[in-house]
Amino acid sequence: MALDDQLLHLEQTKRFLQNNGVQNIDFGLILGSGLGELATEVENPIIFNYKDIPHFPVSTVVGHAGRLVYGELCGKKVLIMDGRFHFYEGYPMETVTFPIRLMKLLEVETMIVTNSAGGSNPNFKPGDLMLITDHINITGTNPLIGPNADSFGPRFPDMSHAYHVYGQEVVRKAAKEVGVQLQEGVYTGLSGPTYETPAEVRMVQVLGGDAVGMSTVPEVIIANHSGIKVIGISCITNLAAGLQANLNHEEVVETTQRVKESFKGLVRKVIEIY
Ligand code: HPA
Repeated sequence: MALDDQLLHLEQTKRFLQNNGVQNIDFGLILGSGLGELATEVENPIIFNYKDIPHFPVSTVVGHAGRLVYGELCGKKVLIMDGRFHFYEGYPMETVTFPIRLMKLLEVETMIVTNSAGGSNPNFKPGDLMLITDHINITGTNPLIGPNADSFGPRFPDMSHAYHVYGQEVVRKAAKEVGVQLQEGVYTGLSGPTYETPAEVRMVQVLGGDAVGMSTVPEVIIANHSGIKVIGISCITNLAAGLQANLNHEEVVETTQRVKESFKGLVRKVIEIY
């Protein structure tokens, strides 16, 4: 799609949400596979099914409800994406990252992105929560390829602090306060939808990646481009290929169910004390 058309769509979607009560936002949140339950805890919610939002695609993955929830959480105004769009679903990058630009137009300054990921760091175990300190993009592409959207940010964005330094401090502090033993590391974004081969996981280890996943990186790039501060948290749902016998989506969902209380507690505390 031409950039001008995307900008027009963004403007129309923004106006639709504003006209339907989405006004001030303290935090934008993107909840990954199986981590959507937090959206049900929003007070005084205004709920939009993706299919009812102009220009919004519909996500197709099991475990992704596909709704946008606006309201209050821990005394702050939040806009939650319960279900995201993945490159592997066949969407172009501009669609995958459309909600991030939308958040920018809605004046979101800080975004919390969550995902489920495989642990390539052999010290991790399924059920660990990992503060994302940095990422490696090996999706094979970049969502900023193409004409630059100058109204959002520069042609060559700095990614030195892709995960906001203060935000990382807040997550560490929040983890202490709620008694979550927090791992930290580098998230490696691949396109999927296959899980990695054991050889690919060894490659990621050599590169310095602690976790592997199929989301987040495009969104974080677009967020950084437009100056949105990012906080990233992964739920390590399984050990990456080669480090355990085999992998399946059911295990990913099961683990997120098992740790959802500590995950929600951590995110709530981050929002509360930020
Ligand atoms: N690899 C990629 N994505 C994932 C994994 C994995 O092992 N687990 C959950 N999402």
